[in-house]
Amino acid sequence: MSDGRLQAIGLCRYYHRGPQTVKAVDEVDLTIAPGEFLGIVGASGSGKSTLLNLLAGLDTPTAGEIRYENTPLRALSRQELASYRAHKVGMIFQSFNLIQHHTALKNVEMALYFNDTPHRERRCLAEKTLTRLGLGDRMHHRPADLSGGEQQRVAIARALVKEPEILFADEPTGNLDHDNTGQIAELLTDLHRRGLTVVMVTHDLELARQCTSRIVNMHYGRLQSENEPPQPRKASS
Ligand SMILES: Nc1ncnc2c1ncn2[C@@H]1O[C@H](COP(=O)(O)OP(=O)(O)O)[C@@H](O)[C@H]1O
Ligand SMILES: [Mg+2]
Repeated sequence: MSDGRLQAIGLCRYYHRGPQTVKAVDEVDLTIAPGEFLGIVGASGSGKSTLLNLLAGLDTPTAGEIRYENTPLRALSRQELASYRAHKVGMIFQSFNLIQHHTALKNVEMALYFNDTPHRERRCLAEKTLTRLGLGDRMHHRPADLSGGEQQRVAIARALVKEPEILFADEPTGNLDHDNTGQIAELLTDLHRRGLTVVMVTHDLELARQCTSRIVNMHYGRLQSENEPPQPRKASS
């Protein structure tokens, strides 16, 4: 079945710190429908990044499973899992994660090294994607010579150049000022309107309300829908 649906079922990711077990993601059930713009909000340390990394196939659950188009990710071979990461999903990070000594163009091109794109097409696709994101005249700049907003757009281009089906964004505006936050929010909204499934983690509830079609709340590793009353919680790291 090719329906683009991504599901977490009883998903858990525990970390062990000495005698202590941190339940970063705890019994999470979640279905992400193709074409939706899901917001995941929650305090720092509530497990948002851990959940996103699991959904993107970058980390392995302690228990439970993730299904993409009804196939459990754990049933995939190493190669198939690599293909899931390289073709189906794109990830953008709060800290951009760009390679500092490469130009914007090279950073975007590199995303295509892992997904069988012929060498001669990589540059052309990277140029097209950067131009589409308004960076046509910044392609040959290194990250240090770009503003925060521009660096985040390069990071978005790097995720989009693979033409993923699902775009994961982990606090994509966390390091940006108000104007750049607005620009990135508009960009993600536009991508969603064109049919991309977007999952955005943010601690900014206002932003999530502005652009997403559904919001879920993470609280100590567990998911609640937005309408459930928040539980009182201790301050966390
Ligand atoms: N690699 C790790 N080793 C140990 N604990 C971790 C690791 N990554 C995250 N954690 C812990 O898991 C919990 C959730 O972290 P995280 O998913 O980064 O939360 P968020 O993204 O919501 O801030 C936190 O208590 C964090 O300290
Ligand atoms: Mg995080």
